[in-house]
Amino acid sequence: MNVPMLDLAVQDAPLMGELQQALLKVAGTGRYIRGPVLTAFEQAFAARVGVAHAVGVASGTDALELSLQALDIGAGDEVITSAFTFFATAEVICQRGAIPIFVDIDPVTYALDPAAVAQAITPRTRALLPVHLFGHAADMHALGALAEQYGLAVIEDCAQAFGASLDGRQVGSFGDTGAFSFYPSKTLGAWGDGGLITTDSDEVAERLRRLGNHGQEAGYRYVEVARNSRLDDLQAAVLAVKLRHADTAARARQAIASRYAERLADVAITLPATLPGHVHGWNYFTVLTEERDAVVAGLRERGIGCGVYYATPLHRQPVFEAQHGKRSLPVTESVAARCLSLPIFPGLSEAAVDVVADALACIRHRGSLRRAASSASTSASSTCLKSR
Ligand SMILES: Cc1ncc(COP(=O)(O)O)c(C=O)c1O
Repeated sequence: MNVPMLDLAVQDAPLMGELQQALLKVAGTGRYIRGPVLTAFEQAFAARVGVAHAVGVASGTDALELSLQALDIGAGDEVITSAFTFFATAEVICQRGAIPIFVDIDPVTYALDPAAVAQAITPRTRALLPVHLFGHAADMHALGALAEQYGLAVIEDCAQAFGASLDGRQVGSFGDTGAFSFYPSKTLGAWGDGGLITTDSDEVAERLRRLGNHGQEAGYRYVEVARNSRLDDLQAAVLAVKLRHADTAARARQAIASRYAERLADVAITLPATLPGHVHGWNYFTVLTEERDAVVAGLRERGIGCGVYYATPLHRQPVFEAQHGKRSLPVTESVAARCLSLPIFPGLSEAAVDVVADALACIRHRGSLRRAASSASTSASSTCLKSR
């Protein structure tokens, strides 16, 4: 059985009728930009996250960059963030003329380590940009306390974490802003690009709406230089349907994660943890394994999709290497060398999960036999090997 890393057609199939209806309702109305469907979706999203405002924008990248701009973070300001994340997290800091300061991550959550953050704060630090990676929230209590102590802004990168919470509070409700991505593979995915910013501040929300609309205050009066960054009503229609079914999708992801945990309990890999008080969003089910590249090859040979997010941490990327490459981030580097993400999406069958788990168990078992064989000079054989 082949198992894809992600199959959006399978994932969306149960909602297809409702999704098509929602799109047809918008079609022909002429209200495609900043229309009533977007407004209703923004209100529903804000209510779900537990914040006063939600502002739709064109992408998760824009959600992060416009957050920085709305909070007046710019030239020469230092923004503390993670190097174990998607490139956009740091890219937007540079786009604002600010400086990303990469600090190490927590070995369990893979999100910013508050102790490392505390050591990196300087008089030039203006903001913290924690990433709720793979769907597990960062330690927002500790990071919030640091932000308060040093007067820093907090921008949450929630791109991978719609549905994640900590002590009953959804991600996106802790910081000054929360930046969400609706890229199709996310836990709340559109049928195209999209993003959204959450905030409790009336002023920040108002400025964000202006920044996404060319800095226009009203009636062709422009008060600052900004851009066009809007979530359109067709995408909002898709997202509104998916938002209504978000609990069902979250349960499906949780069931897959639990099944993996059960089936992989005795395999020589590190399973992802969910710390007490957290609800994991399970955008990715990421394990750590030795000989990662051989394991990836073994899975692909068997027709199993998987992903490596992220093999090269940002401080080692060509664009940042000269300026940041000498930073010592031992946890980041160790996790980046071993991380492997397995298929997880609503609609992935239990049988498919078992195929993935069995293949992983087999490959890891074979790896350890090979090591034992080379040290003891015995020939490696096993049911797993014979069955191939
Ligand atoms: C952690 C993180 N931040 C930011 C983004 C950017 O989101 P988008 O692709 O919607 O611009 C992504 C998307 O992959 C992401 O995973």
